Amino acid sequence: MTIPYPAIQPTPAIAAVSPPSGAPRPRVTFLGTGYLGATYAICYAELGYEVLGFDVDADKIAMLNAGQVPIHEPGLDELLKRNLAAGRLRFSTDIAETAEFGDVHFICVGTPQRAGGMGADLSYVEASVTSLAQHLTRKSLIVGKSTVPVGTAEWVEQLVGKHTPGDLGVEVAWSPEFLQEGFAVDDVLRPNRIVVGVKSEWANGMLYAAHKGVFDLAATEDREVPLVVTDFATAELVKVAANAFLATKISFINAMAEVCEASGGDVTQLARAIGYDPRIGNRFLQAGLGFGGACLPKDIRAFQARAQELGAGEALRFLHEVDLINLRRRTRVLQLAADLLGRRSGPAGPDFSGTRIAVLGATFKPNTDDVRDAPALAVAALLQKAGADVHVYDPQGTENARRAVPELTYESGINEAVTGADLVCVLTEWADFRNADPVALGELVAGRKVVDGRNCLDSALWTQAGWEYRGMGRP
Ligand code: UGA
Repeated sequence: MTIPYPAIQPTPAIAAVSPPSGAPRPRVTFLGTGYLGATYAICYAELGYEVLGFDVDADKIAMLNAGQVPIHEPGLDELLKRNLAAGRLRFSTDIAETAEFGDVHFICVGTPQRAGGMGADLSYVEASVTSLAQHLTRKSLIVGKSTVPVGTAEWVEQLVGKHTPGDLGVEVAWSPEFLQEGFAVDDVLRPNRIVVGVKSEWANGMLYAAHKGVFDLAATEDREVPLVVTDFATAELVKVAANAFLATKISFINAMAEVCEASGGDVTQLARAIGYDPRIGNRFLQAGLGFGGACLPKDIRAFQARAQELGAGEALRFLHEVDLINLRRRTRVLQLAADLLGRRSGPAGPDFSGTRIAVLGATFKPNTDDVRDAPALAVAALLQKAGADVHVYDPQGTENARRAVPELTYESGINEAVTGADLVCVLTEWADFRNADPVALGELVAGRKVVDGRNCLDSALWTQAGWEYRGMGRP
């Protein structure tokens, strides 16, 4: 269904503003067409906006213009094709064209962990804002979406002031995003909140107009999307605080898993039982191999680094523990593997020479092809380093995994990966793995031993099929 964009009807609290391009509703651009920018560009076209996506990567832009999504994200393919065909969406490597087109420019470039440090690398933000600012010829709004250290919006404002020709009155705002890979389309079209950090009524009005499609869709579905209008610093902090909270929740339950391992408890039942308390809630309490991806791990580190710079390092010291608990889960899989294979651990950890191990899963979670800081791939590499012959299968992540860790053997299916294996490690909870038949797989392996790194298998079923089963934080 294509959602027509209704006429702007400002709420009494937010003044109506006219897009500087003269278009009836703001034309929007997204700078950076990675997981974030590509998804936003496509979904905003679906909401009825005229959209231009910009990237310096010509191959990516060519793919997008040809109707191919460069990432695996459920639902995105169809929306891309439909909106290209409707003429509302296009992609370009031309920054002058991008500057000319947009009323609202969203900065969606990556902010990876700085090489050799914990802080965020802002070089892509700097490059995209600088080149955009240098090409602007009329008033517009530059909105940061990338996850950044608090204080970045003020710095971006200074950059814009330095590089904008003449007195165009270009303004800056910050509006963090909360999309989760695998659910990104719905998270953009139906967000659970919108947060904007603004300094002027004009910026507030322009951002409201640039989000009106989201509010209107919600109204047609009898929902409301809460809007939080705040200052720059709070808007920037909301994002890292949310990710820090989620990471803490995961590490909390993984810490409980460690205590269960020491005491004979079962963390899956413990999580269920505490999750019934609505003050705690049952989401993000899945104990296992811990969190990975391009966001939570680097965000909690950058948050600590920034707090330290601000003299508030002590307030976030617990995030260091959150990180350590998370990383300990990876070595726990090696311990369980050594235990099942009867390998003793020396000072350098267990030695798996002469064993063949099947690793099912390479991505940091299911329904994505993203292997950035993926616990599954990290464990596969550790097993290989410890001497095992590791055969990996992932339904979507193989190409990215092969590029990141070429020394592993990649297989084309579950059966190929497990054939002849002395041990199977399930490290990403893809539905294909959860629903795999342990009886059939038992016929292919050399040894029926399984580590369930995500507590996603039916342990009773696997045990009945003759498998020695080890979960995370379970007896
Ligand atoms: C995360 C946040 O959830 C998004 O709200 C945020 O917008 C995004 O980062 C971002 O900063 O851009 P994402 O990285 O896609 O989203 O992944 P999550 O669904 O949060 O999962 C992160 C990791 O935690 C995965 O490796 C997952 O397997 C793990 N996890 C999650 C657990 O180990 N246990 C759980 O209970 C939940």
